[in-house]
Amino acid sequence: MNMIENVEAGIATLRVLVLGTAPSFLGAVRAALDGEPGLRLAVHQGGIEELGRLGGANVPDVLIAQETQKSPEHFRLLAQFTLDHPGVVVVLSCPSKDADLMIQALRAGVKEFLFEPFIEGEIAALVRRLGIRRTAQAPVKQGEVMAFVPCKGGSGSTFLSTNLAHVLASRHHKRVLVIDLNLQFGDASFFLLDRPPPTTLAGVCGSFSRLDRSFLASSVAKLSSGVHILSAPERAADAELVKPEHVEAIVALARGQYDYVVLDVGRALDAVSLKALDLADHIYPVLQLSLPYVRDARRMKEVFQSLGYSENKIRWIVNRTGGQGDFAMADMERVVGKAYWSIPNDHKHVGEAVNQGVPVTELSSHAPSARGLIKWAAALASGEEEARPRKHWFSFLRGAAK
Ligand SMILES: Nc1ncnc2c1ncn2[C@@H]1O[C@H](COP(=O)(O)OP(=O)(O)OP(=O)(O)O)[C@@H](O)[C@H]1O
Ligand SMILES: [Mg+2]
Repeated sequence: MNMIENVEAGIATLRVLVLGTAPSFLGAVRAALDGEPGLRLAVHQGGIEELGRLGGANVPDVLIAQETQKSPEHFRLLAQFTLDHPGVVVVLSCPSKDADLMIQALRAGVKEFLFEPFIEGEIAALVRRLGIRRTAQAPVKQGEVMAFVPCKGGSGSTFLSTNLAHVLASRHHKRVLVIDLNLQFGDASFFLLDRPPPTTLAGVCGSFSRLDRSFLASSVAKLSSGVHILSAPERAADAELVKPEHVEAIVALARGQYDYVVLDVGRALDAVSLKALDLADHIYPVLQLSLPYVRDARRMKEVFQSLGYSENKIRWIVNRTGGQGDFAMADMERVVGKAYWSIPNDHKHVGEAVNQGVPVTELSSHAPSARGLIKWAAALASGEEEARPRKHWFSFLRGAAK
């Protein structure tokens, strides 16, 4: 049998094999999936008996098989197939919602069902969902999800997240996606982008059934540095379109496409923000060395504790050190926890960079804030951050970054 070689459409990503005896079934599935991006589709007229002949390169990622007979022999063959090929998602198409048939199929390892006649769009939506799930579960190429959250408004969370993203992409050739989750007043794109984004997070969520790799790729703004940005909704009212489950699916998809997925999370801890924090491998709460920031950082620490996050998940970032702050680093660390990284106060360069909408490292790679960001990105990119030696205590006094 040479079914998968019978490539009909698209890029070699999700390999879907359709197997059935009725030409009407084969035609309906073919029509539903025709033109779907990211699919290799093979359609084969034959019965379940032919499953035993599948092997090697012919084994698909998704098998859509038709079952009309409720035959015990067919279920035995299906069970054998799912045992031999545990990575294949088997979708069974049945003539009706027959409970007995469905129980037997589930026992045989079938994961999903379709019922004829098909509802318009349901097959494509199912296959897209399976593609996203597979990408999210793929053991390779899982990007790191970093959630930046300001302990208090104006802490510098967006500046640091966007500028760190830029350095990771431009100096380390990492694939980085920034997602602006400040749903009502998002401004991440203003820090790097000099033109309107092709669409926003609200646009993606509004067409959520279309979500797949190519839709995500066409929705992000692509910068020459290599950073991609999915901007916040343009109108505050559109924030409502973005639901936690959307964020979960987008991040799962993005993990498979990027080395770093940087989430610029809003300070309001609503359902979307909490979902983002949950999904993050590490949370980077940003604070400054003054009482209002430290007070809110302590509150945030209590929130993290009540959410059951481990201390390792939280990486406290102290911004604008060496300024007029009324807290010493050691006092802050006693109240909040060890600082993971610090970036010096650099009003001149940061102000100029923000006003021009360019990364501070492009303005001046020797600026104090730029040097701190460059070292931070280098540590992350080389995977040495865990082994990083503690800096000398007096470097804070010199305004140097860790
Ligand atoms: N290291 C720094 N030195 C000097 N100024 C800085 C520094 N970091 C940030 N800023 C300034 O602080 C301003 C606020 O930063 P940013 O918008 O990143 O804060 P935020 O925590 O994201 O706030 P929001 O709650 O509004 O999202 C920036 O416009 C920038 O001018
Ligand atoms: Mg911000």
